[in-house]
Amino acid sequence: MRRTVLTALAAVAALVGSGVLGATAATPALALDNGLALTPQMGFNNWNLTQCGSQFNEAFVKGIADTLVSTGLKDAGYQYVNLDDCWAQSSRDASGNLVPDKTRFPHGIKAVADYVHSKGLKFGLYSSAGTKTCNKAGFPGGLGHEKQDAALWASWGVDYLKYDNCNNQGQDAKKRYTAMRDALAATGRPILYSICEWGQNQPWTWAASVGNSWRTTGDINDSYSKMLSIYKANIKLGKYAGPGHWNDPDMLEVGNGKMSDTEYRSHFTLWAMMSAPLLIGSDIRKASSATLTILRNADVIALDQDAKGVQGNEISAANGLHVIRKPLADGDTAVALFNETGSTAKISTTLSAIGVSAGTHSLTDLWSKAKSTTTGPISASVPAHGTVVYRVH
Ligand code: GLA
Repeated sequence: MRRTVLTALAAVAALVGSGVLGATAATPALALDNGLALTPQMGFNNWNLTQCGSQFNEAFVKGIADTLVSTGLKDAGYQYVNLDDCWAQSSRDASGNLVPDKTRFPHGIKAVADYVHSKGLKFGLYSSAGTKTCNKAGFPGGLGHEKQDAALWASWGVDYLKYDNCNNQGQDAKKRYTAMRDALAATGRPILYSICEWGQNQPWTWAASVGNSWRTTGDINDSYSKMLSIYKANIKLGKYAGPGHWNDPDMLEVGNGKMSDTEYRSHFTLWAMMSAPLLIGSDIRKASSATLTILRNADVIALDQDAKGVQGNEISAANGLHVIRKPLADGDTAVALFNETGSTAKISTTLSAIGVSAGTHSLTDLWSKAKSTTTGPISASVPAHGTVVYRVH
């Protein structure tokens, strides 16, 4: 079993030393010890954009890899190129191996992985801890085939597995996901393990030693209301997250066009405040400059990727005016003021409310980059559905 008490003790010691344990009651989890996702994973996944449409193919994936490099997104931290459902043929071959869809991937999956690796990026694949995947066409799932599938993926150069929950035959989730954890470990290849069981069996209570992240809710879609409801569910689970084992509120919709840029900035900021995996799900080959400005905001990404690995928690949320606090490794504190409501509102908090010592502190607005100072009050006029986020030094 790839888990170590030492890793967990080190993590707990770091939290105690920083005073965080007392503040947020972090759970001393026995983290999966594959050395991966010490900060939340960042990259691209096609699902929110293509689902199983015919545009999901080799040329598309190569184009995404090229664009991650050419737009600077790779340098901003997005390193995984992940393929979701519908990459396989509907049947295994005579030896029981999964077979790549010949139309979408005529040169196979390894050729695509090699291309992605040649760009200095990492490569991810998808399957389900069931007899079939989630798409109604029903591609073969991994249940009962864990060792064979993991070995095949490792031979292709897979660096990341998203493992879904469809067609699970009612079998115990922890057993199903643990079987694949052990199969991945047995390959000897470091493979980031992303559990996708939609929060159905409260994975936050058992999956820290099984996977590197676990979905906490059903699927996101490109709407403010769905993004908001997922935020409200995921923000409550902060004590279960930490380096190597993260809550996953699902992939980003930034750039898909049905939310405003103000709403996408909120989506991105809230995900970063929650130490969420940041997986781009829009067509970056055609991204607007507004979309790229959001996805490349290094100051907001730094909150997500902060080495302390403490998920932000809500200080207050009265009347849809949310104050979220995230302590950072260098002693700074991030504070986000999120206006859930349909009209502009003033949102206020104080240094003491966010746990910062008295004295004069400087504030940087991480979207406008404006700097200011405060001896106590922190507030902003926040537009409808908008978020202002400060780094307090
Ligand atoms: C489920 C998952 C999604 C996506 C689809 C693919 O709905 O939650 O993220 O992977 O399956 O079919």
